[in-house]
Order: sequence, then structure tokens, then C-alpha cells
Amino acid sequence: MPKIIDTIESKLKMIPDPKKILENAEKWGFGPRSIELLKRALEVESLGAMPFSMYDAPPIVEEAVEDAIIIDADGRRYIDMMAGFAVSNVGHHRKEVLAAIIEQFNKLVQYSEMLSEVRIKLGEKLVEITPGKFKKKVFYGLSGSDAVEVAIKIARYYTGRPIIITQWGDYHGRTIGTVPFTTSFSTWSQNYPIMGADIGVVRIPFPYCYRCPCNPKADSCEECAEDCLHLVDYMLSHTYYGLRDPFSKSTNVAAFLIEPYQSAAGYMVAPDNWLPGLYKIAREYDILFMVDEIQTGWARTGRMWAVDHYPGVEPDVIMVAKSIANGLPFSATIGRAEVMDSWGPGAHSSTFAGYMLGCAAALKTIEIMERENLAYLAQVKGEKFLKGLQDLMQEHPILGYVEGKGLYIGVEFVKDRNSKKPATEETKWMTMRLLQKGMLVKRAGYLGNRFALSPPLVIRDETIDKALEIFDEVFTEAEEKFNIK
Ligand SMILES: Cc1ncc(COP(=O)(O)O)c(C=O)c1O
Repeated sequence: MPKIIDTIESKLKMIPDPKKILENAEKWGFGPRSIELLKRALEVESLGAMPFSMYDAPPIVEEAVEDAIIIDADGRRYIDMMAGFAVSNVGHHRKEVLAAIIEQFNKLVQYSEMLSEVRIKLGEKLVEITPGKFKKKVFYGLSGSDAVEVAIKIARYYTGRPIIITQWGDYHGRTIGTVPFTTSFSTWSQNYPIMGADIGVVRIPFPYCYRCPCNPKADSCEECAEDCLHLVDYMLSHTYYGLRDPFSKSTNVAAFLIEPYQSAAGYMVAPDNWLPGLYKIAREYDILFMVDEIQTGWARTGRMWAVDHYPGVEPDVIMVAKSIANGLPFSATIGRAEVMDSWGPGAHSSTFAGYMLGCAAALKTIEIMERENLAYLAQVKGEKFLKGLQDLMQEHPILGYVEGKGLYIGVEFVKDRNSKKPATEETKWMTMRLLQKGMLVKRAGYLGNRFALSPPLVIRDETIDKALEIFDEVFTEAEEKFNIK
């Protein structure tokens, strides 16, 4: 029987060995400057930092050129399948955004939490473009986690109820306030104690269609979602689950806080009946519906917001960050005015929240997204990319499942399509091999066997074609190396 100490020891094994990282860099043929810089990084960066988690040896990225090409410290080119974690949706080099930043810089960079015209203008824009035909208000922050923390705080304050329901496998940040909502053993095991894991957070399954947690025998994604919805409804309609009393109709649940599609989990698109079904439950039981669009928003999925795929779903609160200011740290929590105005001045604050430079960059970035109709562009390019990957499925048994909306594409790898045994080791290997062949991809998934593909939305068609070619080669190599038939 494993003991707690074994778990701790197994976690210690997760700490990367700097020597091994350098060996890996050599093995995968990193250039001399990259190796030199990696050595220096290992001297000063905590081994808990993200760069050491994604790759066996992290690349040293230095520059971006053209649509979706990144250059490393040795001048090597990579096709960018990450957009800096779904941040550079409008492309890395936008001179217009730079001009807006310089113009604002010459006026004022920040003046801690003071009002300014540029901040007010951005607020007007955000309430206009977020879903929901009702009066909305904005709260600014600097990161995605900031935006989520505001939503958690205000939902509890507004409703006077403690509990927030989130989905298994959701990612909402890694600050001490958001980590209870990022349900993942590997995250939690390095973050104990998990504040609020015992009180105030309840989890429901996400209908991971390929491996349905609610009904492994489900015939379709919709059936999987239907069964998960049934479970959620059951939890709220029976007094003995402890969330609601069906007789007095009182509940201690303040809100749902969900990712519309799961991003860190490997770009899993919810079946079409999931969000409308969950929204209906929220409305029926008088629970706020809060949607984290930090990664799915800003045209990524072929609409401005993922919830825009579901007419009638109007979240009470929406969280945005990442791509909002084309790379400058910035976030916002936008919600119904009655919710956002329910607390008093200074209830939450952060020195740089709503800083002028970020507001100016955000206004210009949003203008570009609208003017160039990037949502439509993402839809068209996404269809092309998805079709290319689906074609590759005909030839490559390692591809278990491919799904996507717009340029939000998840690819799941298996050792064998019948057993669906996850190809975790193979996925790790392919991540490094792709790096070596000139492509940056994000490895993700509940089982570490997925790629989450999110190139800049302005990626050229030729770059997508080239990426498909490289994928084809690397899938073939992996199948040979790991004997996958
Ligand atoms: C869906 C989602 N929510 C929240 C966050 C946290 O954002 P940040 O890392 O900016 O704090 C992330 C980050 O990846 C995310 O993908």
C-alpha cells in the first residue's frame, strides 16, 4: 500500500536535474549560444518555473519574425504553434500597437489605480464587445489569475454564498487563490496546502469526449455531455448532496466558474450541448455563470468568445487576459453591473491594474481584431488546419483524436486506437523532435498525451502547410521508433 511518504518521494522525482536538462539540450542538438544561455538560466531560475516543465530542455527564444515564426538564440527558425500561450493572437509584430504604446508612454505610463481617458475608453469597449445584453461593469487586473480572483471574490460577496463549482481538469491559474480551481494532481502536489480545497469548491466533470468520465460507453460527444449534465443536475436537486435544498430552494452555491473549452487540459472542445445545458442549470438554480475566456477568447475559436458559439448563453461574469494587449500584462473581469457594483471602493486592488500603457495597447489590439475580422480568419484557417490533421489521421495510427474550433486545436496521441492507451512518452519525444525540426508546440492533456495548437491567428496558409508536412514526418518517425501500428 503506498504511503504519503512515497507520494512525496515521487514528487521529488519530478524536480528536474539541471545536469540532465543540459544533457538533453546537447542530445537534441541545441546551438552553442542556447546551451550557454541555458547554463546561465539554470544558475538563476527556480526549477519550479514553467520553462522546465514543458520541454526536456527548454528553447531560448529571442525574436519573432513574420506571421508565426520565432527565432532562437542561435538564429534557428521555428513555426510558432503556441503564440506565446495564446497571447499573440494578432501576430507578434504589430507596429500599430507599438505606436499606440509609444504615444501613451509619452503621456503617462501608469498612475496607480487612477482614472484616465484611455482606461475609460477601454472599459466602454469591453462592455460593448463581451456577451450579454445587459449593463456591465469592468474590473482591471494584470494577469489571468488576477481576473479569476476578482470573479471568485465578487461572486461570493454578491451572493453571500461560499461555494463555487468548477470542472475537473479546468485551469484557472496557479496563485494561492486560484490553485484550488486548477484541479490537477501534479499542480496540487507542488502547492500544498490547497486553500479552499475542503470548503468552498465543488467539482463537476468536464465532458472529455474521447474518454467520457460520465459514461465511457457513450456513443457520441453529446451523449457524454448529456450524462455529465445529468450528474450536475442531480447534485443540485438532491438535498443530501449538500448544495441545495429542493424544498426551500435555497442554495449555498454562488457560481459556476468554468472554462468553456479546456485549455491546459489540451484544447478540449466541449460538446455542443454542454455549455447551453450548464447555463440552463445555472439559471434554473439561480447560480451565477462565470466563464474564464482567458485562453479561448479574443477570436481564438473562430468567434470573439467561445460562448458566442452558443446563442443565448450570456455569462454573468467573464474573465479575459492573455491576448488582450498583444503581449503586455493586462486582464479584466467583466460582469453584470449589479454584481460588479455590489461591493465598496477598494474591495480589491493591485498597483498596476488598469495602467494606461496596457489600456492603450489593449484598445489598439481590439481595434485590429475587429478591423481584420480575426474571428473569421481563425475560423477559415482553423478549418484548413483541422482538415489537414484529420487527413493525417488516415495514415497515422498514433493520432487517436483530433478536435478544434478555429485555431484552437487539440490532438490526442495513443499507442493503439482500440485500447486508447495514452502515448505519453511518445508525445514527450515528439515535442522535442518537433523542436529540433523547427516547430514549437505545447504538450498538454490530462494524460500528457496531447498537443494544444494555438498559432497566431494571422499565420499564413503556407506556414500551416509546412507545419502539416513536419507533423507528417514526425508522426512517421514516432510510429517507427515506438512500434505503433
Ligand atoms: C484558462 C486560463 N485561465 C487562467 C489562466 C491564468 O492566467 P495567468 O497565467 O495570466 O495568471 C490561464 C493561463 O494559462 C488560463 O489558460
